[in-house]
Amino acid sequence: MQLPPQQVAVLEAASADEPRRIADLAADAGEPPETVTGAAFELADAGLVDVTEETVEEVELTDEGREYADAGLPEVRLYEAALAAGAGESPVSMGEAIGASGLEGPQVDIALSNYARKGYGSIDSGDLGADPDADPGEDAEAAALETLAAGGTVDDDDALAQLERRDLVAVRERTVRSVVLTDAGVTELMAGVEASEKVGQLTPDMLASGEWRDAEFADYNVEADAGDYQGGKVHVLRQAAERVKEVLVGMGFQEMAGPHVDADFYINDCLFMPQDHPARNHWDRFALAEPDRIDDLPGDLVERVERAHREGVGPDGDGYHSPWDEDFARALALRGHTTSLTARYLSGVAGEDVEPPQRYFSVEKAYRNDTLDATHLLEFFQIEGWVMADDLSVRDLMGTFREFYSQFGITDLEFKPTYNPYTEPSFELFGRHPETGELIEIGNSGIFRPEMLEPLGVDADVMAWGLALERLLMLVTGFEDIRDVHGTLCDLAFLRDAEVVY
Ligand code: PHE
Repeated sequence: MQLPPQQVAVLEAASADEPRRIADLAADAGEPPETVTGAAFELADAGLVDVTEETVEEVELTDEGREYADAGLPEVRLYEAALAAGAGESPVSMGEAIGASGLEGPQVDIALSNYARKGYGSIDSGDLGADPDADPGEDAEAAALETLAAGGTVDDDDALAQLERRDLVAVRERTVRSVVLTDAGVTELMAGVEASEKVGQLTPDMLASGEWRDAEFADYNVEADAGDYQGGKVHVLRQAAERVKEVLVGMGFQEMAGPHVDADFYINDCLFMPQDHPARNHWDRFALAEPDRIDDLPGDLVERVERAHREGVGPDGDGYHSPWDEDFARALALRGHTTSLTARYLSGVAGEDVEPPQRYFSVEKAYRNDTLDATHLLEFFQIEGWVMADDLSVRDLMGTFREFYSQFGITDLEFKPTYNPYTEPSFELFGRHPETGELIEIGNSGIFRPEMLEPLGVDADVMAWGLALERLLMLVTGFEDIRDVHGTLCDLAFLRDAEVVY
C-alpha cells in the first residue's frame, strides 16, 4: 500500500510488541513530534496503529534549581566554606563563613534555613559550627538536583518534595501518547508499504514553479495535536472584567466613568457617611498629599448634603448631631469604593440624565488600606451598579443578582442582612467556593436611604451594590488566594491556562 512518507516512517518505527512514545518515534523517524502525532492519528484512523494516552508527571528544574545544580546548593556551599574556615573544630563567625562561601542576597537566608535542618551544623546567634561527619555527597536534594540537571529521573519522593517546596523544581502534568502497531498494521508492513508522492505542505517553491498544479495533497488532519504556544494573552482578571461588562450591558446597564482620586465629599459625604465614621479616619484611606483638596464642589449640593447630615431629611428626619465641615469633605483620597461614581452620577455632576428608569454600572479599581491576606489586597476591582426606578424592593435586588451571577454559572447565592450608613435595608452577598466549599463574601448591596437620595435630588427608588470582581473570579475558576492572580507571587501556570467561561 501507499502512504504519505511521514506515515511510512512512523509505521516503520513503531513496534507491535510494546507501545512506543511519540518522542521516541520522532527521534527515529527524523520528524518533528507534531508531524509524528499527526501521522499517528492518520494511521490510527486507518486501523494500522493504536494510539494510547497517559498523563505523566514531568519534573523540571526552575531557573533557581538550574543555578544550584551548577554552583551547588547554598547550604552545601556554606558548609564547605565553614569547614574550610575551621568550623569543624569550633564554631566560626557566621559573617566570615558567609563571606568565604560567596553567597549573596537571599541565598544567605536560604543557606541558613536549610543548614541545620540537614544536619550540616549548628547556628548559634552569630556563630556557625560545622559537623565534620556531615557529607554533602550524601545530600539527597543535591543528588536529585544533579540527576535532574543531567536529564535523568529521580525516584526519591522525599527529596523531590523538598525540591518542589523550595521552588527548585516544578512538577507538571503532560499527556504522553504512545503508538503500537495493530495486527492490520503488521500485515500491511509485511505486504510492503511505500511512500506515496502525496504532498503534506504547500511551499513557496511549489507555487513559484507551478509544481502545485500536478501535486497530490495529503488530507489535513484537524484532530492532530498542535504545538503548545504561550503567546501573550489578556490577563484573566481583565477577561473577567470584560465579561462582566458584557453581561451588564446585556442586562441594559450603561457604564459610568470617573476619577480614581476623589473628594471625600463624593466618596463619603454624599453617601450619608458621618464625618466621624471610623472608616473615614486616616488609617483606612489613602489620602493625597499633593493636591490634598478638590478645587470645586457644587455649592447647592454641598448645602443639601450638609443639611441632611445635620438635620436628616423629611419631617421626622434626624441628623447625626456630629460635626460637618466642608473642608473635611474636600480632602482628596484614592476612592475606597466606586460608590463615589454612583454619587457623582446620581447627583448629576457627571452630566448624565438621571430621570428614572436608569441602570448604571462600572468595573473599576477601589483602594483600601487592608491587611494583605488570601482574600484582601490594597486594591481590587469593584463591580458597582445601581438601578433607579419608581418601585423597587429587595426582591428586585435579589433577582438582579441571581440573573447576573447565573450567567457565570453561580446559582447558590446567600444573602445576609448588614448595615451601611447609606442603604436600608442592606445585604451582604455570599457564594460558595467551588474548591473549599466555604461561603465567601462576594458583595454588599442595598436600597439607598432618603438621607442619601434626597440631597442628590433623586426622587425615585435606587437599589445599588458593590461586588468584588476577584471574588467572582474565585468562584468561577476556583483559585484560592488572591495573590495567585495579582502581584509578584502570581501563579503563572494559572494565568496562562485559566479561562473565564460565561
Ligand atoms: N460601597 C459598598 C462597598 O464598598 C458597596 C455598596 C454599594 C453597598 C452600593 C450598597 C450600595 O462595600
